[in-house]
Amino acid sequence: METLSKICESEESIEPMLIFLGGGNMATALVDGAVKKGFVQKEQIAVTARSEVTLNKWRNKGYMHLSMNNREVLKKFPKALVFIAVKPQARLELFDQIRPLTQVCISLMAGVNLKVLDQELSGCDSSSHQPENPPLLRLHPNIASSIGAGASIISAQPSVSPIVLRVVRSFAECTGLCLPVDEETFDAAGTLAGCTPAWAFTMIEGLSDGGVLSGVPRYLSTQLVAQAVMGAAKLVLESGEHPGALKDKVCSPGGTTIAGIQQLEARGVRSGFIEAVRAANERAKAMTKKE
Ligand SMILES: NC(=O)c1ccc[n+]([C@@H]2O[C@H](COP(=O)([O-])OP(=O)(O)OC[C@H]3O[C@@H](n4cnc5c(N)ncnc54)[C@H](OP(=O)(O)O)[C@@H]3O)[C@@H](O)[C@H]2O)c1
Repeated sequence: METLSKICESEESIEPMLIFLGGGNMATALVDGAVKKGFVQKEQIAVTARSEVTLNKWRNKGYMHLSMNNREVLKKFPKALVFIAVKPQARLELFDQIRPLTQVCISLMAGVNLKVLDQELSGCDSSSHQPENPPLLRLHPNIASSIGAGASIISAQPSVSPIVLRVVRSFAECTGLCLPVDEETFDAAGTLAGCTPAWAFTMIEGLSDGGVLSGVPRYLSTQLVAQAVMGAAKLVLESGEHPGALKDKVCSPGGTTIAGIQQLEARGVRSGFIEAVRAANERAKAMTKKE
């Protein structure tokens, strides 16, 4: 498999080193996955955090480039790729500490688009002349990245080189699927991938309740439903067939499955899903505006 070192061999402007500004849940999930797959070695990772408690968690797992001083780490690895892995509300304080940033920067922050990121990193408002930032990318993982089954999206400014794109995408693919998305679609796609696990948990719980009502013990019911949902998702991804066509294949005329589908349709399940996605997007937009 491709490794960070191998991809970086032919590119002098970057070194095979990844810096994570913020060492919380998402940084941990992504780095653990990439180390497990052999894409990076622990000595190729540097992590910063606000607290020693967090850094100690990394230290105990064998990581050695750990610091509470963001500027110092950036200075130590001037050609590394820098991931911004703090919560969006902590970013302005962080940007004040790291400006002017010279390394290629990949933001994991939900709801902060590339234009806003560019402006904020440069420290100027939109009306004034902006000093040049390094190339910027966004990567949006989801909760299942922590078990190697993530649905991530990536977008990049035109100035990002193909090699950098390859590095970031290969890194994200260590923890699941990673698809390129244009900036206009990014927030909607990120909301969809980010919220779907919770909607699927609700569906699994409901179907499992149905199993229990029919006499199936809870443990068995939940295991069977979860596995069936995973299998159905795999069939969609691996066959490339339309989900509607796959559904038709399971519905025999006058059979059990179509009887259940009729009940789901009578209760507006499909339109419920559509409305859930719309509501989540509206909420995401309102939250970004309020900031
Ligand atoms: N979690 C998800 O499912 C998910 C999905 C998509 C995108 N994201 C994005 O990923 C980012 C990280 O989320 P998370 O869930 O990993 O958050 P988290 O667990 O709260 O981690 C945030 C980390 O940032 C550190 N930090 C805060 N201010 C800092 C500073 N000035 N310098 C250095 N480190 C600083 C914190 O340090 P301490 O630990 O010492 O407090 C903590 O380690 C967010 O922007 C979020 O929008 C998350």
